[in-house]
Amino acid sequence: MRFGVLTGGGDCPGLNPAIRAVVRRAAMAGHESLGFLDGWKGVRDDLARPLTPADVVGLEGKGGTVLGTSRTNPFAREEDAHKVLATLEHRGIDVVVAIGGDDTLGAARELQRRGRAVVGVPKTMDNDVRGTDWTFGFHSAVSVAVEALERLRDTAASHHRAIVLEVMGRNAGWVALATGLAGGADATLVPEERYDEEAVLARVRRALAARHFALVVVSEGVDLGLAAGRAGAKDEFGHELLAERGVGAELARRIGAATGAETRSAQIGHIQRGGAPELFDRILASRLGAAAVDLALAGRTGRVAVLRGGEIVGIPFDEALAGTRTVEAPWLDLLHTFDA
Ligand code: F6P
Repeated sequence: MRFGVLTGGGDCPGLNPAIRAVVRRAAMAGHESLGFLDGWKGVRDDLARPLTPADVVGLEGKGGTVLGTSRTNPFAREEDAHKVLATLEHRGIDVVVAIGGDDTLGAARELQRRGRAVVGVPKTMDNDVRGTDWTFGFHSAVSVAVEALERLRDTAASHHRAIVLEVMGRNAGWVALATGLAGGADATLVPEERYDEEAVLARVRRALAARHFALVVVSEGVDLGLAAGRAGAKDEFGHELLAERGVGAELARRIGAATGAETRSAQIGHIQRGGAPELFDRILASRLGAAAVDLALAGRTGRVAVLRGGEIVGIPFDEALAGTRTVEAPWLDLLHTFDA
């Protein structure tokens, strides 16, 4: 068999170990792999390179994706869909392994609907894919954000300031929640909860009174009632570029105006996405990549390999794509145990 592997959507730590796992597992069973470049763009435009076990040596600890990625929607136009099918035909691909978040997996489901064998592997620093306990990329990205918060704590404490850290995550608050929880923020704002300015100010005032500095974490997706940035710029899947809104800077301004404290904000943006995958992400990506090949070899395509209670299982695309996985209530209760 010949496996066609691609990585789509935003890069994140763990993509390379996942590619490595697909290639190695397929080779172990006597099968070949081909890597498509830059996500679905490579399938549409027929850009690919062979991937042998020798090509994936050392990928277990490497950040980004050696295949490149893009936010290309291959089914945006019917003529592109024809190109995708033609590429797979001419390259002799038996199974496509699509490694990505909900957009990439959505395109994978569409390809499966059009009669091709496809298996999905969920990734994203946002941790917002349904049906899996965690997506790889999340733990590594949050570790960067926690380190940033700890660095900001030094400056906040030294200068007696209120500092706001804005983190990514799109419309799910997982990154902010984990950063605030693990980094000990005085207030953590997630898109799942309505913005309550008085409650935020009360937390900041308490922290300022107790220790003369305050730390706030805000998710880029929190709605402060700001207009879309850069005239509402969107990617190919219709997602607004949320970082352009500048939620962190605006929140710092409001805190400063209301409390009189000296305030600053930091937006760490893509710094969260790069760098070597952490242990958890390396292992999870390796397990999922290998499981994707196993699913295909067992004839169980049309599925996404996911982590469920410690086990790796295959679930239908529809289950993984049944809406964004946002932060669940028990996590919010835990968060507010510490910042209330
Ligand atoms: O989906 C991952 C993510 O990092 C989001 O958290 C963020 O909103 C978005 O990608 C940024 O996208 P881009 O890399 O296209 O600016």
